[in-house]
Amino acid sequence: MSVNLDWENLGFSYMKLPYRYLAYYKNGQWEKGGLTEDATLHMSESYPCLHYGQQAFEGMKAYRTKDGSVQLFRPDQNAKRLQRTSDRLLMPQVPTDMFVDAVKQVVRANEEYVPPYGTGGTLYIRPLLLGVGDIIGVKPADEYIFTVFAMPVGNYFKGGLTPTNFIVSDKYDRAAPYGTGAAKVGGNYAASLLPGQMAHEKKFSDVIYLDPATHTKIEEVGSANFFGITKDNEFVTPYSPSILPSITKYSLLYLAEHRLGLKAIEGDVPIDDLDRFAEAGACGTAAVISPIGGIQHGEDFHVFYSETEVGPVTRKLYNELTGIQFGDVEAPEGWIVKV
Ligand code: PLP
Ligand code: COI
Repeated sequence: MSVNLDWENLGFSYMKLPYRYLAYYKNGQWEKGGLTEDATLHMSESYPCLHYGQQAFEGMKAYRTKDGSVQLFRPDQNAKRLQRTSDRLLMPQVPTDMFVDAVKQVVRANEEYVPPYGTGGTLYIRPLLLGVGDIIGVKPADEYIFTVFAMPVGNYFKGGLTPTNFIVSDKYDRAAPYGTGAAKVGGNYAASLLPGQMAHEKKFSDVIYLDPATHTKIEEVGSANFFGITKDNEFVTPYSPSILPSITKYSLLYLAEHRLGLKAIEGDVPIDDLDRFAEAGACGTAAVISPIGGIQHGEDFHVFYSETEVGPVTRKLYNELTGIQFGDVEAPEGWIVKV
């Protein structure tokens, strides 16, 4: 059963749902967490997450299937990525069992907000880890908050499966070569706000960042990874130590090879060699698969398959991925977890 919302037109906005999960880390261990109706975090002015950015987050979704049940897509991978981010920022790891259990509790408690099957909507889940405690020097916190909240969402980029255009950032990087680009930390997104705003003012969906060392290769989109389909039917996506290791991207690498029979390659994508691609897209939890119509790079505007139509391979990948997520297509082992 779902509440009465305009499920087909949700967009991507915050909505305060009845329940969220909260757990504290004190004296070197996680205390037992649980659900709360209080959506406000009560914070000391000294918290290091506020001053020095010692915080991290995740993004994942719950999907309503045709039979009305609810399922998660590879939640263990989000748990593992948060653990790697925690290692980079000297935060305690949230164990995978605790992470997945917290997510399930939040989805169950807010179940009526999981959009009905067939509307295109999903429940977006935001796990958040914060360094807290009274500290003012630059050093890791000794206390942490782990919280998980959720909200129903629709398309992240307004086109959905209709292509939209992106612009290369010539002036700004989102991360340094050996910085925190591979960690899901707020600082990377703070760095992307200004170029993102400049892109939106020019009516582009988002920014495409180049590798921060040489500015010759595509890294990723501000909020998603990049992929291209070559004219020889290869699925190509950038490899870089400074991009977010996207769970969607790794899933697509697998599906491209094992379900669509494409050659799947993680490697360099020179920005001056876009002609090799017949199709291109942005992929991620929020972005799902968002086809890229064209890319503005300096004075050049490179159009891929079409500015108005999704390409055939991108469509097949979309159908395979979303078919698995919504329970219509058989999933590789371990990808789907019932709530
Ligand atoms: N890259 C960035 C910068 C992102 O914010 C996201 C979203 O999470 C992704 C890539 C895609 O990652 P995933 O597929 O794990 O959601
Ligand atoms: C996600 O896809 O989950 C993201 O985190 C992207 C964006 C909303 C920041």
